[in-house]
Amino acid sequence: MSETIKKPVLFSGIQPTGNITIGNYIGAMSNFVKLENDYDCLFSIVDLHALTVRQDPASLRRKSLELAALYIAAGLNPEESIIYCQSHVPQHAELAWILNCFTYMGELSRMTQFKDKSQKHADNINAGLFTYPVLMAADILLYQTDLVPVGADQKQHLEITRDIAERMNGIHPGLFKVPKPHIPKETAKIMSLTEPEKKMSKSDPDDSIITLVDKPDAILRKFKRAVTDSETEIRFDPENKPGVSNLLSIMSNMSGESIESIVSRLNGQGYGALKQQTAEATIERLKPIQLKQEELLKDKEYMAKVLKTNAERAQTLALRTLRKVYKKLGLYQP
Ligand code: TYM
Repeated sequence: MSETIKKPVLFSGIQPTGNITIGNYIGAMSNFVKLENDYDCLFSIVDLHALTVRQDPASLRRKSLELAALYIAAGLNPEESIIYCQSHVPQHAELAWILNCFTYMGELSRMTQFKDKSQKHADNINAGLFTYPVLMAADILLYQTDLVPVGADQKQHLEITRDIAERMNGIHPGLFKVPKPHIPKETAKIMSLTEPEKKMSKSDPDDSIITLVDKPDAILRKFKRAVTDSETEIRFDPENKPGVSNLLSIMSNMSGESIESIVSRLNGQGYGALKQQTAEATIERLKPIQLKQEELLKDKEYMAKVLKTNAERAQTLALRTLRKVYKKLGLYQP
């Protein structure tokens, strides 16, 4: 993508925290790859969002670079799409301040992620955690974004982003493009392997998640121990058979085979076969990504260059919106 926008704009971000899971891969990254050619895309490593919970500095730095390499290893093209760190583009934080002044305490306190995270981190309920969705709205609105591919857990954040944009457009017509979420049903929510009623999260215990850096033996071991149910029938029924349905969904996403076809092929076989084949499909899909990521991480110079150049490209676009916002809001511009 050059700095001239020709296609509709797509924006999404992932936090460089914990280990990226197959939930992030299926719910977000694999859709980024599918959509990349039809949009002018920005994929951010949202390191400022990561600071809402305490981070070890060395680890945050390393994970930011690993995530950048993962974006590329998963198939995104940094010559086309803008792959960059959020903190390298100061306009995100600047726009977030402006949006803060148009966002209500009441709507922020209804955010389920805020409620969950303040329970998890009861000793550190900071203001950043509370205004997290405002920074996310700034990420998106800064680029006049059309489409935001995310998992189902981000739906509420997209709604508040749209509300803020519409509210501000009501006062200053034409200020922002109102973005649409892209949350395909098949990829929206990958569940934990040990508690399949719960979403798979980066911060969950290791046995309940498959990370993108897991080796084949760990992947096989974790799938073999995945919680299913006391029946034997392989059937897609998320309500009554969450564990089995989750495995079917993972296998389908990893292999490209439809759930119906997997179900009829495995008809009469036990859960052992389902687990084995889900593991095999996952190992097969992750292998080239892992190799490519390792190779990229060895080339520190290349990675630094990609991130620097792309941050500059993002800044050019970000400045356009920020200047427009400052002007329309009446901030004096000499
Ligand atoms: P994060 O880092 O928690 O997750 C990154 C992406 O992965 C999706 N995801 C899942 N999808 C399906 N099943 C799962 N189990 C699963 N777990 C995670 C998330 O929905 C997300 O799309 N607030 C965001 C980051 C962000 C952002 C943005 C996203 C900041 N600014 C602007 C889009 C646009 C977050 O914490 O994602």
